[in-house]
Amino acid sequence: MEYRIQSGHPEKLSTECLVVGVLEPRRLTPSAQRLDEASGGFLTKLLQQGDLEGRTGQTLLLYNVPGILAERVLLVGAGKEQDLGDIQYRDAIAKTINALWDTGTTEAVITLTDLPVRGRDAHGRVRMATEAVENTTYRFDQLKSKKETPPRTLCNVAWSLPDDDLTVGTQAMREAIAISAGVRLAKDLANLPGNFCTPTYLAEQAKALVDAYPNQPLTLEVLEQEDMARLGMGALLAVAQGSRQPPKFIILRYLGGQEGEKPVVLVGKGITFDSGGISLKSGDKMDEMKFDMSGAAAVLGSIKAAVELSLAVNLVGIAPATENLPDGNAIKPGDIVTSFSGQTIEIINTDAEGRLILCDALTYAERFEPVVTIDIATLTGACVVALGKHPSGLFANHPPLASDLLNAGRTSGDRVWELPLWEEYQDQLKSNFADMSNVGGREGGAITAACFLSRYTKKLHWAHLDIAGTAWIGGDKKGATGRPVPLLVQYLIDRCIHQSNE
Ligand code: BES
Ligand code: MN
Ligand code: ZN
Repeated sequence: MEYRIQSGHPEKLSTECLVVGVLEPRRLTPSAQRLDEASGGFLTKLLQQGDLEGRTGQTLLLYNVPGILAERVLLVGAGKEQDLGDIQYRDAIAKTINALWDTGTTEAVITLTDLPVRGRDAHGRVRMATEAVENTTYRFDQLKSKKETPPRTLCNVAWSLPDDDLTVGTQAMREAIAISAGVRLAKDLANLPGNFCTPTYLAEQAKALVDAYPNQPLTLEVLEQEDMARLGMGALLAVAQGSRQPPKFIILRYLGGQEGEKPVVLVGKGITFDSGGISLKSGDKMDEMKFDMSGAAAVLGSIKAAVELSLAVNLVGIAPATENLPDGNAIKPGDIVTSFSGQTIEIINTDAEGRLILCDALTYAERFEPVVTIDIATLTGACVVALGKHPSGLFANHPPLASDLLNAGRTSGDRVWELPLWEEYQDQLKSNFADMSNVGGREGGAITAACFLSRYTKKLHWAHLDIAGTAWIGGDKKGATGRPVPLLVQYLIDRCIHQSNE
């Protein structure tokens, strides 16, 4: 999809379709009012007849509206003004796109940017609307022999804005396009099944990402199994030994910031399939465990967006990648391994593998002397039980970092909710035979997982994002969401704005 910003009076725009909003009950938005005046009260008359109440999701397509240049007008209900928040706004945009598809228009001017969305200025509305279009039009049909080809000829969207908002609108659009490119990459990787998306494939995609930007300061290093063995990444290798696919340790570096400036390090869990290992999962929904590399996918997606925006930040993305399978050589409950940090771990449950690969990656992160380190992982089912699927779980050992992420979540709409990382929980990780156990029992499972990681991040300003509930949607709309790419990119954008003000 191509996007642009359009200023000027709506009645004077020649376009295949002009989209205008109607609030409930039968209230015209400013753009709709102008059209109404130009058309001699055409819209008012329709509304009085009861053709459109303005409820969220209602649409009405009009032809031959007098006194205006647009070929068609699409009226879109946006609900009551006091209810109009992010959810309703995204919904109205999605409805608009679906309705436009049905008409076969190739190009449209959308004035829903003038809707009074609670807490959102013109920047926020253009950002959200553009991302909503990208999410609505996303399809994963690489592996279907017959592509679903709806008459979706729409390829050009213009957001209408008053002249005063052109600069912020253009910036918002640019951000949304970059974020959506990152989200798309993350979705594609996570949707791709385990027989395609192996650790090797992830490393190849990281290479493709670097190759796509030859003029950007973006580089890749991939550590092989022997390298990891040489370094002593015993926890990561313990997981990998149950798989016939070789593990990969992917390191992407983007040096968009000042020379010598400490980097932000992102670490993403890259389990390309999680069967549970010898502590085998039940078969129910096991297919969903192809998404268990969503953290790694978010790292690649966020870096793509940062590069697209040429953000002035130094960024390191680390993605430890392996499968978790029950081979004859697989780790067994009770096995004790030595992590890269030197701490020993008793593996009570082989299905708690994410923390095993992450702990070694977090120790590796130290060598970059990061300003902050954020890990992203589909780590625990317990996080989904605690928070549901709307926010990602946030844990941090550095309150300013937690607050920056909470803020970035509110701005981007890709929200997080903080859970405690208190000392009291650490007791649950006691082992009789090693320095710690890899599981902490039933109570507070998301928290004890984070506590496990905290033992490897003492030297870092660190945050952990548990995305088990947010990285994908279950049910008949099953698929990856690309979260938390919008959150991470917002965090990076905010950092850059902050720095330039200093
Ligand atoms: N990848 C899973 C976590 C998960 C579960 C994500 C369900 C999304 C939905 C992780 O590796 C795992 O299996 N965690 C275990 C930990 C337990 C054994 C302590 C879990 O959550 O059951
Ligand atoms: Mn697991
Ligand atoms: Zn897992």
